[in-house]
Amino acid sequence: MNNSLTEQDKDLISEFSSLSDNYWDFKNEDTRCYTHGIHGYPAVMVAPISRNLIRIAKKHQEVNSILDPFMGSGSVLIESQVANINNIYGVDLNPLAKLLSKVRTTKLSEKQLYQIENNFIKKLNNEFDKYNDKINNFDHFIVDEKKLDITEKKGWGYETELYFQEYKQKYCDDFIFPTFKNIGFWFTPKTIYSLQIIKNVIKMFKQKDIRDFLLITFSETIRKVSNTKNGEFKLVRISKEQILKNTTNTKNEFLTILEKNISKMREFVKILESSNSNVKIISGDTRNIKSIKSIPDNSIDLVITSPPYGDSQTTVAYGQYSRLSLQWLDLEISDDIDIKTLDKSLLGGIPYKDKTQWSFLESKTLVNSLTKIANVDPFRADDVFSFYIDLDKCIYGITKKMKIGGYQYWVVGNRTVKGENLRTDKIITEMAEKYGLNYIYTFGRNIINKSMPSLNSPTNETGKRVATMTKEIIVVLKKVEN
Ligand SMILES: C[S@@+](CC[C@H](N)C(=O)[O-])C[C@H]1O[C@@H](n2cnc3c(N)ncnc32)[C@H](O)[C@@H]1O
Repeated sequence: MNNSLTEQDKDLISEFSSLSDNYWDFKNEDTRCYTHGIHGYPAVMVAPISRNLIRIAKKHQEVNSILDPFMGSGSVLIESQVANINNIYGVDLNPLAKLLSKVRTTKLSEKQLYQIENNFIKKLNNEFDKYNDKINNFDHFIVDEKKLDITEKKGWGYETELYFQEYKQKYCDDFIFPTFKNIGFWFTPKTIYSLQIIKNVIKMFKQKDIRDFLLITFSETIRKVSNTKNGEFKLVRISKEQILKNTTNTKNEFLTILEKNISKMREFVKILESSNSNVKIISGDTRNIKSIKSIPDNSIDLVITSPPYGDSQTTVAYGQYSRLSLQWLDLEISDDIDIKTLDKSLLGGIPYKDKTQWSFLESKTLVNSLTKIANVDPFRADDVFSFYIDLDKCIYGITKKMKIGGYQYWVVGNRTVKGENLRTDKIITEMAEKYGLNYIYTFGRNIINKSMPSLNSPTNETGKRVATMTKEIIVVLKKVEN
Protein backbone atom coordinates (compact mmCIF):
# COMPACT_ATOMS: atom_id res chain seq x y z
CA MET A 1 0.00 0.00 0.00
CA ASN A 2 1.27 3.44 -0.91
CA ASN A 3 1.93 5.54 2.17
CA SER A 4 1.88 8.95 0.49
CA LEU A 5 -1.87 8.82 -0.02
CA THR A 6 -3.89 11.98 0.60
CA GLU A 7 -7.28 12.10 2.35
CA GLN A 8 -8.85 12.45 -1.10
CA ASP A 9 -7.12 9.25 -2.29
CA LYS A 10 -8.18 7.41 0.85
CA ASP A 11 -11.81 8.46 0.39
CA LEU A 12 -11.71 7.26 -3.20
CA ILE A 13 -10.19 3.91 -2.20
CA SER A 14 -12.73 3.51 0.55
CA GLU A 15 -15.56 4.06 -1.93
CA PHE A 16 -14.17 1.51 -4.40
CA SER A 17 -13.51 -1.08 -1.72
CA SER A 18 -17.04 -0.74 -0.35
CA LEU A 19 -18.51 -2.01 -3.64
CA SER A 20 -19.52 -5.65 -3.96
CA ASP A 21 -17.24 -8.09 -5.82
CA ASN A 22 -19.53 -8.31 -8.84
CA TYR A 23 -20.41 -4.60 -8.93
CA TRP A 24 -18.37 -4.03 -12.11
CA ASP A 25 -19.70 -7.05 -14.03
CA PHE A 26 -22.88 -5.32 -15.28
CA LYS A 27 -24.38 -8.62 -16.23
CA ASN A 28 -27.88 -7.37 -16.93
CA GLU A 29 -27.23 -3.82 -18.12
CA ASP A 30 -28.05 -2.55 -21.58
CA THR A 31 -24.64 -1.89 -23.10
CA ARG A 32 -26.04 -0.81 -26.50
CA CYS A 33 -28.13 2.12 -25.26
CA TYR A 34 -28.23 5.39 -27.24
CA THR A 35 -25.31 5.80 -29.67
CA HIS A 36 -23.36 2.93 -28.06
CA GLY A 37 -25.70 0.86 -30.22
CA ILE A 38 -24.42 2.29 -33.50
CA HIS A 39 -21.84 0.03 -35.22
CA GLY A 40 -19.72 -2.56 -33.42
CA TYR A 41 -16.05 -2.38 -32.54
CA PRO A 42 -13.62 -4.90 -31.09
CA ALA A 43 -12.90 -4.92 -27.34
CA VAL A 44 -15.31 -2.12 -26.49
CA MET A 45 -15.26 -0.78 -22.94
CA VAL A 46 -18.88 -1.35 -22.04
CA ALA A 47 -20.69 1.87 -21.20
CA PRO A 48 -21.52 1.17 -17.53
CA ILE A 49 -17.78 0.98 -16.71
CA SER A 50 -16.96 4.53 -17.76
CA ARG A 51 -20.37 5.77 -16.57
CA ASN A 52 -19.65 4.55 -13.04
CA LEU A 53 -15.97 5.52 -13.06
CA ILE A 54 -16.94 9.07 -14.04
CA ARG A 55 -19.73 9.16 -11.45
CA ILE A 56 -17.38 8.07 -8.67
CA ALA A 57 -14.46 10.22 -9.85
CA LYS A 58 -16.69 13.32 -9.85
CA LYS A 59 -17.50 12.81 -6.19
CA HIS A 60 -13.81 13.06 -5.30
CA GLN A 61 -12.35 15.58 -7.74
CA GLU A 62 -13.43 18.37 -10.05
CA VAL A 63 -13.74 17.06 -13.60
CA ASN A 64 -13.82 19.70 -16.33
CA SER A 65 -11.79 17.78 -18.85
CA ILE A 66 -11.38 14.13 -19.76
CA LEU A 67 -9.18 12.24 -22.22
CA ASP A 68 -9.43 8.76 -23.72
CA PRO A 69 -6.11 8.26 -25.56
CA PHE A 70 -7.33 4.96 -27.12
CA MET A 71 -10.92 5.99 -27.83
CA GLY A 72 -11.87 3.15 -30.25
CA SER A 73 -15.62 3.44 -30.77
CA GLY A 74 -15.86 6.44 -28.45
CA SER A 75 -17.73 4.82 -25.58
CA VAL A 76 -15.89 6.82 -22.90
CA LEU A 77 -16.54 10.03 -24.82
CA ILE A 78 -20.28 9.36 -25.03
CA GLU A 79 -20.54 8.76 -21.29
CA SER A 80 -18.49 11.91 -20.68
CA GLN A 81 -21.07 13.87 -22.68
CA VAL A 82 -23.89 12.31 -20.69
CA ALA A 83 -22.03 13.36 -17.52
CA ASN A 84 -21.80 16.90 -18.98
CA ILE A 85 -18.00 17.20 -18.75
CA ASN A 86 -16.95 20.45 -20.44
CA ASN A 87 -13.96 19.36 -22.51
CA ILE A 88 -13.72 15.86 -23.89
CA TYR A 89 -10.78 14.56 -25.94
CA GLY A 90 -10.39 11.27 -27.76
CA VAL A 91 -7.39 9.99 -29.75
CA ASP A 92 -7.02 6.94 -31.99
CA LEU A 93 -4.85 5.93 -34.91
CA ASN A 94 -7.55 3.94 -36.67
CA PRO A 95 -9.51 6.20 -39.08
CA LEU A 96 -12.61 4.04 -38.62
CA ALA A 97 -12.45 4.72 -34.87
CA LYS A 98 -12.22 8.43 -35.63
CA LEU A 99 -15.28 8.46 -37.90
CA LEU A 100 -17.25 6.19 -35.58
CA SER A 101 -16.47 8.26 -32.48
CA LYS A 102 -17.33 11.44 -34.35
CA VAL A 103 -20.71 10.09 -35.45
CA ARG A 104 -21.54 8.59 -32.06
CA THR A 105 -20.83 11.88 -30.27
CA THR A 106 -22.45 14.28 -32.77
CA LYS A 107 -26.08 15.11 -32.12
CA LEU A 108 -28.32 15.25 -35.19
CA SER A 109 -31.30 17.61 -35.06
CA GLU A 110 -34.87 16.55 -35.86
CA LYS A 111 -34.52 18.53 -39.08
CA GLN A 112 -31.44 16.50 -40.06
CA LEU A 113 -33.11 13.23 -39.14
CA TYR A 114 -36.13 14.27 -41.19
CA GLN A 115 -33.84 14.82 -44.20
CA ILE A 116 -32.53 11.30 -43.78
CA GLU A 117 -35.91 9.68 -43.21
CA ASN A 118 -37.48 11.45 -46.15
CA ASN A 119 -35.14 12.93 -48.77
CA PHE A 120 -32.39 10.36 -48.43
CA ILE A 121 -34.57 7.27 -48.30
CA LYS A 122 -36.70 8.53 -51.19
CA LYS A 123 -33.60 9.14 -53.28
CA LEU A 124 -32.20 5.73 -52.36
CA ASN A 125 -35.41 3.96 -53.36
CA ASN A 126 -35.49 5.86 -56.67
CA GLU A 127 -31.92 4.87 -57.47
CA PHE A 128 -32.61 1.21 -56.71
CA ASP A 129 -35.72 1.32 -58.95
CA LYS A 130 -33.56 2.79 -61.67
CA TYR A 131 -30.73 0.28 -61.30
CA ASN A 132 -32.60 -2.87 -60.40
CA ASP A 133 -32.35 -4.43 -63.85
CA LYS A 134 -28.68 -3.56 -64.07
CA ILE A 135 -27.92 -5.21 -60.72
CA ASN A 136 -29.57 -8.41 -61.95
CA ASN A 137 -27.93 -8.14 -65.34
CA PHE A 138 -24.48 -7.83 -63.79
CA ASP A 139 -25.14 -10.90 -61.66
CA HIS A 140 -26.38 -12.76 -64.76
CA PHE A 141 -23.24 -11.74 -66.67
CA ILE A 142 -20.89 -13.09 -63.98
CA VAL A 143 -22.77 -16.26 -63.07
CA ASP A 144 -24.46 -17.34 -66.34
CA GLU A 145 -22.50 -15.75 -69.17
CA LYS A 146 -18.97 -15.95 -67.76
CA LYS A 147 -19.91 -19.05 -65.76
CA LEU A 148 -17.74 -17.94 -62.86
CA ASP A 149 -17.87 -19.65 -59.51
CA ILE A 150 -18.32 -16.66 -57.19
CA THR A 151 -16.89 -18.64 -54.28
CA GLU A 152 -13.56 -19.20 -56.03
CA LYS A 153 -10.49 -17.09 -55.31
CA LYS A 154 -9.24 -17.47 -58.87
CA GLY A 155 -11.45 -15.63 -61.33
CA TRP A 156 -14.18 -13.71 -59.53
CA GLY A 157 -12.34 -13.47 -56.18
CA TYR A 158 -9.04 -12.02 -57.29
CA GLU A 159 -9.66 -10.74 -60.83
CA THR A 160 -12.86 -8.88 -60.12
CA GLU A 161 -11.73 -5.67 -61.79
CA LEU A 162 -11.24 -7.39 -65.16
CA TYR A 163 -14.85 -8.56 -65.08
CA PHE A 164 -16.09 -5.09 -64.17
CA GLN A 165 -14.36 -3.75 -67.31
CA GLU A 166 -15.63 -6.54 -69.55
CA TYR A 167 -19.19 -6.08 -68.31
CA LYS A 168 -19.07 -2.29 -68.74
CA GLN A 169 -17.87 -2.63 -72.33
CA LYS A 170 -20.31 -5.31 -73.30
CA TYR A 171 -23.39 -3.64 -71.82
CA CYS A 172 -22.29 -0.01 -72.26
CA ASP A 173 -22.87 0.51 -68.54
CA ASP A 174 -20.89 3.51 -67.29
CA PHE A 175 -21.34 2.51 -63.65
CA ILE A 176 -18.22 3.24 -61.59
CA PHE A 177 -17.29 0.14 -59.63
CA PRO A 178 -15.07 0.22 -56.54
CA THR A 179 -11.53 -0.82 -57.31
CA PHE A 180 -9.91 -2.31 -54.24
CA LYS A 181 -8.01 -5.57 -54.52
CA ASN A 182 -9.73 -8.95 -54.13
CA ILE A 183 -13.12 -7.33 -53.64
CA GLY A 184 -14.83 -10.37 -55.22
CA PHE A 185 -13.39 -12.59 -52.52
CA TRP A 186 -15.38 -10.69 -49.90
CA PHE A 187 -18.54 -9.75 -51.80
CA THR A 188 -20.94 -11.25 -54.32
CA PRO A 189 -21.60 -9.40 -57.62
CA LYS A 190 -25.05 -8.17 -56.60
CA THR A 191 -23.76 -6.97 -53.23
CA ILE A 192 -20.97 -4.93 -54.81
CA TYR A 193 -23.35 -3.24 -57.24
CA SER A 194 -25.89 -2.51 -54.48
CA LEU A 195 -23.33 -1.18 -52.02
CA GLN A 196 -21.92 1.15 -54.65
CA ILE A 197 -25.40 2.55 -55.33
CA ILE A 198 -25.90 3.24 -51.62
CA LYS A 199 -22.50 4.90 -51.41
CA ASN A 200 -23.26 7.09 -54.45
CA VAL A 201 -26.53 8.30 -52.90
CA ILE A 202 -24.78 9.05 -49.59
CA LYS A 203 -22.14 11.09 -51.43
CA MET A 204 -24.90 13.29 -52.90
CA PHE A 205 -25.58 14.61 -49.40
CA LYS A 206 -23.29 17.53 -48.79
CA GLN A 207 -24.03 18.16 -45.10
CA LYS A 208 -21.07 16.54 -43.39
CA ASP A 209 -22.78 15.38 -40.19
CA ILE A 210 -25.58 13.72 -42.12
CA ARG A 211 -23.15 12.16 -44.55
CA ASP A 212 -20.88 10.79 -41.83
CA PHE A 213 -23.88 9.30 -40.00
CA LEU A 214 -24.93 7.58 -43.22
CA LEU A 215 -21.38 6.42 -43.93
CA ILE A 216 -21.16 4.74 -40.53
CA THR A 217 -24.53 3.07 -41.20
CA PHE A 218 -23.08 2.01 -44.56
CA SER A 219 -19.99 0.61 -42.82
CA GLU A 220 -22.18 -1.39 -40.43
CA THR A 221 -24.01 -2.77 -43.47
CA ILE A 222 -20.77 -3.74 -45.23
CA ARG A 223 -19.86 -6.22 -42.51
CA LYS A 224 -23.36 -7.68 -42.50
CA VAL A 225 -23.60 -8.27 -46.26
CA SER A 226 -20.00 -9.32 -46.90
CA ASN A 227 -18.77 -12.91 -47.01
CA THR A 228 -17.15 -12.49 -43.60
CA LYS A 229 -18.08 -14.52 -40.55
CA ASN A 230 -20.26 -12.64 -38.10
CA GLY A 231 -18.86 -12.33 -34.60
CA GLU A 232 -15.24 -12.64 -35.79
CA PHE A 233 -13.05 -9.58 -35.59
CA LYS A 234 -10.46 -10.97 -37.95
CA LEU A 235 -11.34 -11.25 -41.61
CA VAL A 236 -12.52 -14.82 -41.92
CA ARG A 237 -14.66 -15.93 -44.86
CA ILE A 238 -17.84 -17.96 -44.47
CA SER A 239 -17.96 -21.33 -46.24
CA LYS A 240 -18.64 -21.65 -49.98
CA GLU A 241 -22.03 -23.21 -49.22
CA GLN A 242 -22.97 -20.27 -47.02
CA ILE A 243 -21.94 -17.78 -49.72
CA LEU A 244 -24.12 -19.53 -52.29
CA LYS A 245 -27.06 -19.79 -49.89
CA ASN A 246 -26.86 -16.15 -48.87
CA THR A 247 -29.88 -14.23 -50.15
CA THR A 248 -29.37 -11.07 -48.10
CA ASN A 249 -30.87 -8.00 -49.73
CA THR A 250 -28.27 -5.26 -49.31
CA LYS A 251 -30.68 -2.33 -49.58
CA ASN A 252 -33.10 -3.81 -47.03
CA GLU A 253 -30.26 -4.64 -44.68
CA PHE A 254 -29.00 -1.06 -44.92
CA LEU A 255 -32.46 0.38 -44.30
CA THR A 256 -32.98 -1.82 -41.23
CA ILE A 257 -29.67 -0.70 -39.75
CA LEU A 258 -30.49 2.91 -40.65
CA GLU A 259 -33.82 2.74 -38.83
CA LYS A 260 -32.07 1.33 -35.74
CA ASN A 261 -29.36 4.01 -35.86
CA ILE A 262 -31.89 6.82 -36.20
CA SER A 263 -33.71 5.56 -33.14
CA LYS A 264 -30.38 5.29 -31.23
CA MET A 265 -29.59 8.87 -32.25
CA ARG A 266 -32.99 10.09 -30.98
CA GLU A 267 -32.33 8.40 -27.62
CA PHE A 268 -28.93 10.11 -27.51
CA VAL A 269 -30.29 13.58 -28.31
CA LYS A 270 -32.90 13.15 -25.60
CA ILE A 271 -30.43 12.10 -22.93
CA LEU A 272 -28.13 15.02 -23.85
CA GLU A 273 -30.89 17.64 -23.54
CA SER A 274 -29.10 19.60 -20.84
CA SER A 275 -25.55 18.69 -21.75
CA ASN A 276 -23.22 21.06 -23.50
CA SER A 277 -19.86 19.38 -23.83
CA ASN A 278 -17.18 20.26 -26.30
CA VAL A 279 -15.85 17.06 -27.92
CA LYS A 280 -12.55 16.88 -29.82
CA ILE A 281 -11.95 13.73 -31.84
CA ILE A 282 -8.30 13.48 -32.80
CA SER A 283 -6.68 11.22 -35.31
CA GLY A 284 -3.23 10.53 -33.96
CA ASP A 285 -0.64 8.22 -32.53
CA THR A 286 -0.79 8.19 -28.75
CA ARG A 287 2.93 7.36 -28.62
CA ASN A 288 3.36 10.96 -29.85
CA ILE A 289 0.46 12.50 -27.94
CA LYS A 290 2.78 15.07 -26.45
CA SER A 291 3.03 16.76 -29.84
CA ILE A 292 -0.76 16.89 -30.34
CA LYS A 293 -1.30 20.61 -29.85
CA SER A 294 -5.09 20.51 -29.69
CA ILE A 295 -4.80 18.90 -26.24
CA PRO A 296 -3.14 21.53 -24.04
CA ASP A 297 -0.36 20.34 -21.71
CA ASN A 298 -1.26 20.09 -17.99
CA SER A 299 -4.96 20.52 -18.77
CA ILE A 300 -6.67 17.15 -18.27
CA ASP A 301 -8.43 16.26 -15.00
CA LEU A 302 -9.31 12.66 -15.75
CA VAL A 303 -8.13 9.86 -18.05
CA ILE A 304 -10.28 6.78 -18.57
CA THR A 305 -9.00 4.34 -21.14
CA SER A 306 -8.60 0.74 -22.25
CA PRO A 307 -5.40 0.30 -24.26
CA PRO A 308 -4.93 -2.66 -26.59
CA TYR A 309 -4.14 -5.93 -24.75
CA GLY A 310 -1.02 -6.48 -26.76
CA ASP A 311 0.15 -6.21 -30.35
CA SER A 312 -2.68 -6.38 -32.89
CA GLN A 313 -1.32 -9.43 -34.69
CA THR A 314 -1.69 -11.77 -31.72
CA THR A 315 -4.53 -10.09 -29.80
CA VAL A 316 -7.26 -7.97 -31.38
CA ALA A 317 -6.66 -7.04 -35.03
CA TYR A 318 -8.25 -3.58 -35.20
CA GLY A 319 -6.81 -3.04 -38.68
CA GLN A 320 -8.21 -6.28 -40.06
CA TYR A 321 -11.58 -5.60 -38.44
CA SER A 322 -11.71 -2.20 -40.13
CA ARG A 323 -10.21 -3.07 -43.50
CA LEU A 324 -13.32 -3.57 -45.64
CA SER A 325 -14.95 -0.43 -44.24
CA LEU A 326 -11.80 1.64 -44.74
CA GLN A 327 -11.59 0.45 -48.34
CA TRP A 328 -15.24 1.11 -49.15
CA LEU A 329 -15.27 4.45 -47.36
CA ASP A 330 -12.00 5.62 -48.96
CA LEU A 331 -10.75 6.54 -45.51
CA GLU A 332 -7.18 7.74 -45.66
CA ILE A 333 -4.71 6.88 -42.94
CA SER A 334 -1.51 8.81 -43.59
CA ASP A 335 1.35 8.94 -46.07
CA ASP A 336 3.37 6.32 -44.23
CA ILE A 337 0.57 4.00 -43.03
CA ASP A 338 -1.75 2.20 -45.37
CA ILE A 339 -4.81 0.06 -44.72
CA LYS A 340 -2.93 -3.23 -44.91
CA THR A 341 -0.20 -2.14 -42.51
CA LEU A 342 -2.49 -0.48 -39.96
CA ASP A 343 -2.10 -3.36 -37.47
CA LYS A 344 1.68 -3.00 -37.66
CA SER A 345 1.36 0.71 -36.88
CA LEU A 346 -0.62 0.17 -33.68
CA LEU A 347 1.00 -0.47 -30.30
CA GLY A 348 3.60 -3.23 -30.42
CA GLY A 349 3.36 -3.62 -34.20
CA ILE A 350 7.11 -3.66 -34.86
CA PRO A 351 9.29 -6.07 -32.83
CA TYR A 352 11.96 -4.30 -30.83
CA LYS A 353 15.03 -6.47 -30.79
CA ASP A 354 17.35 -4.75 -28.32
CA LYS A 355 17.16 -6.82 -25.13
CA THR A 356 19.58 -4.47 -23.34
CA GLN A 357 16.69 -1.97 -23.13
CA TRP A 358 14.41 -4.21 -21.07
CA SER A 359 15.30 -2.65 -17.75
CA PHE A 360 14.90 0.94 -19.04
CA LEU A 361 11.16 0.77 -18.53
CA GLU A 362 11.77 0.28 -14.80
CA SER A 363 9.34 -2.59 -14.35
CA LYS A 364 10.73 -5.60 -12.51
CA THR A 365 7.57 -7.58 -13.27
CA LEU A 366 8.07 -7.01 -16.99
CA VAL A 367 11.74 -8.03 -16.97
CA ASN A 368 10.83 -11.20 -15.06
CA SER A 369 8.16 -12.15 -17.56
CA LEU A 370 10.32 -11.30 -20.58
CA THR A 371 13.12 -13.49 -19.24
CA LYS A 372 10.75 -16.44 -18.87
CA ILE A 373 9.29 -15.97 -22.36
CA ALA A 374 12.76 -15.53 -23.92
CA ASN A 375 13.83 -18.87 -22.47
CA VAL A 376 11.11 -20.52 -24.55
CA ASP A 377 11.02 -18.20 -27.56
CA PRO A 378 13.32 -15.14 -27.81
CA PHE A 379 11.39 -13.69 -30.78
CA ARG A 380 8.11 -13.65 -28.87
CA ALA A 381 9.90 -11.82 -26.07
CA ASP A 382 10.84 -9.11 -28.60
CA ASP A 383 7.18 -8.80 -29.68
CA VAL A 384 6.03 -8.50 -26.09
CA PHE A 385 8.68 -5.96 -25.19
CA SER A 386 7.83 -3.78 -28.17
CA PHE A 387 4.24 -3.52 -26.93
CA TYR A 388 5.34 -2.33 -23.48
CA ILE A 389 7.96 0.07 -24.82
CA ASP A 390 5.17 1.67 -26.87
CA LEU A 391 2.79 1.69 -23.92
CA ASP A 392 5.46 3.36 -21.81
CA LYS A 393 5.76 6.17 -24.39
CA CYS A 394 1.99 6.62 -24.22
CA ILE A 395 1.96 6.82 -20.40
CA TYR A 396 4.66 9.49 -20.55
CA GLY A 397 2.79 11.63 -23.11
CA ILE A 398 -0.66 11.18 -21.55
CA THR A 399 0.66 12.22 -18.16
CA LYS A 400 2.18 15.40 -19.65
CA LYS A 401 -1.32 16.37 -20.75
CA MET A 402 -2.68 16.01 -17.21
CA LYS A 403 -3.03 18.43 -14.35
CA ILE A 404 -1.25 17.57 -11.13
CA GLY A 405 -3.87 15.89 -8.95
CA GLY A 406 -5.64 14.31 -11.94
CA TYR A 407 -6.49 10.60 -11.86
CA GLN A 408 -5.98 7.94 -14.56
CA TYR A 409 -8.13 4.81 -14.82
CA TRP A 410 -6.57 2.06 -16.93
CA VAL A 411 -8.87 -0.83 -17.85
CA VAL A 412 -6.51 -3.64 -18.84
CA GLY A 413 -6.48 -7.34 -19.62
CA ASN A 414 -3.63 -9.58 -18.52
CA ARG A 415 -2.92 -11.98 -21.36
CA THR A 416 -0.82 -15.11 -21.42
CA VAL A 417 2.12 -15.55 -23.79
CA LYS A 418 4.05 -18.82 -23.95
CA GLY A 419 2.48 -19.85 -20.67
CA GLU A 420 3.53 -16.63 -18.92
CA ASN A 421 0.74 -14.43 -17.56
CA LEU A 422 1.65 -10.83 -18.32
CA ARG A 423 0.56 -8.66 -15.39
CA THR A 424 -0.12 -5.50 -17.40
CA ASP A 425 -1.80 -3.93 -14.36
CA LYS A 426 1.41 -4.24 -12.30
CA ILE A 427 3.66 -3.38 -15.23
CA ILE A 428 1.75 -0.13 -15.90
CA THR A 429 1.93 0.80 -12.23
CA GLU A 430 5.69 0.19 -12.11
CA MET A 431 6.44 1.93 -15.41
CA ALA A 432 4.28 4.93 -14.46
CA GLU A 433 6.19 5.81 -11.31
CA LYS A 434 9.05 7.45 -13.19
CA TYR A 435 6.56 9.86 -14.80
CA GLY A 436 5.27 11.25 -11.51
CA LEU A 437 2.27 8.92 -11.16
CA ASN A 438 1.30 7.53 -7.78
CA TYR A 439 -0.34 4.14 -7.46
CA ILE A 440 -3.79 4.44 -5.86
CA TYR A 441 -5.83 1.26 -6.23
CA THR A 442 -6.57 -1.84 -8.32
CA PHE A 443 -9.77 -3.82 -8.71
CA GLY A 444 -11.04 -6.51 -11.06
CA ARG A 445 -14.12 -7.24 -13.09
CA ASN A 446 -15.33 -10.36 -14.84
CA ILE A 447 -15.67 -10.01 -18.59
CA ILE A 448 -19.28 -10.80 -19.30
CA ASN A 449 -20.61 -8.26 -21.77
CA LYS A 450 -17.41 -7.58 -23.63
CA SER A 451 -17.66 -8.29 -27.31
CA MET A 452 -14.31 -9.89 -27.86
CA PRO A 453 -13.03 -13.41 -28.06
CA SER A 454 -12.01 -14.68 -24.63
CA LEU A 455 -9.76 -17.08 -26.44
CA ASN A 456 -6.98 -16.30 -28.81
CA SER A 457 -3.89 -18.00 -30.05
CA PRO A 458 -1.17 -16.73 -27.76
CA THR A 459 1.27 -19.38 -28.90
CA ASN A 460 0.76 -18.07 -32.43
CA GLU A 461 -0.04 -21.57 -33.66
CA THR A 462 -3.13 -21.72 -35.80
CA GLY A 463 -5.92 -23.59 -34.15
CA LYS A 464 -4.22 -23.82 -30.77
CA ARG A 465 -6.39 -21.81 -28.45
CA VAL A 466 -5.76 -21.16 -24.80
CA ALA A 467 -8.06 -19.33 -22.41
CA THR A 468 -6.33 -16.01 -21.87
CA MET A 469 -8.59 -13.46 -20.26
CA THR A 470 -11.63 -13.87 -18.10
CA LYS A 471 -10.98 -10.81 -16.00
CA GLU A 472 -10.28 -7.18 -16.65
CA ILE A 473 -8.38 -5.14 -14.14
CA ILE A 474 -8.83 -1.46 -13.43
CA VAL A 475 -5.76 0.36 -12.21
CA VAL A 476 -6.08 3.81 -10.66
CA LEU A 477 -3.09 6.17 -10.75
CA LYS A 478 -2.71 9.84 -9.85
CA LYS A 479 -0.39 12.48 -11.23
CA VAL A 480 1.49 13.94 -8.28
CA GLU A 481 4.34 15.81 -9.99
CA ASN A 482 5.48 17.06 -13.38
C1 LIG B 1 -9.24 -1.66 -26.57
S1 LIG B 1 -9.46 -0.59 -27.94
C2 LIG B 1 -10.31 0.75 -27.23
C3 LIG B 1 -11.78 0.48 -27.16
C4 LIG B 1 -12.55 1.65 -26.63
N1 LIG B 1 -12.36 1.84 -25.22
C5 LIG B 1 -14.03 1.42 -26.93
O1 LIG B 1 -14.82 1.36 -25.98
O2 LIG B 1 -14.39 1.27 -28.10
C6 LIG B 1 -7.85 0.03 -28.22
C7 LIG B 1 -7.75 1.09 -29.30
O3 LIG B 1 -6.39 1.55 -29.34
C8 LIG B 1 -6.13 1.99 -30.65
N2 LIG B 1 -4.66 2.13 -30.80
C9 LIG B 1 -3.73 1.16 -30.86
N3 LIG B 1 -2.51 1.69 -30.99
C10 LIG B 1 -2.67 3.04 -31.00
C11 LIG B 1 -1.77 4.13 -31.09
N4 LIG B 1 -0.45 3.96 -31.22
N5 LIG B 1 -2.27 5.39 -31.05
C12 LIG B 1 -3.60 5.59 -30.93
N6 LIG B 1 -4.50 4.59 -30.86
C13 LIG B 1 -4.05 3.33 -30.88
C14 LIG B 1 -6.77 0.93 -31.52
O4 LIG B 1 -7.00 1.44 -32.82
C15 LIG B 1 -8.07 0.66 -30.73
O5 LIG B 1 -9.11 1.44 -31.25
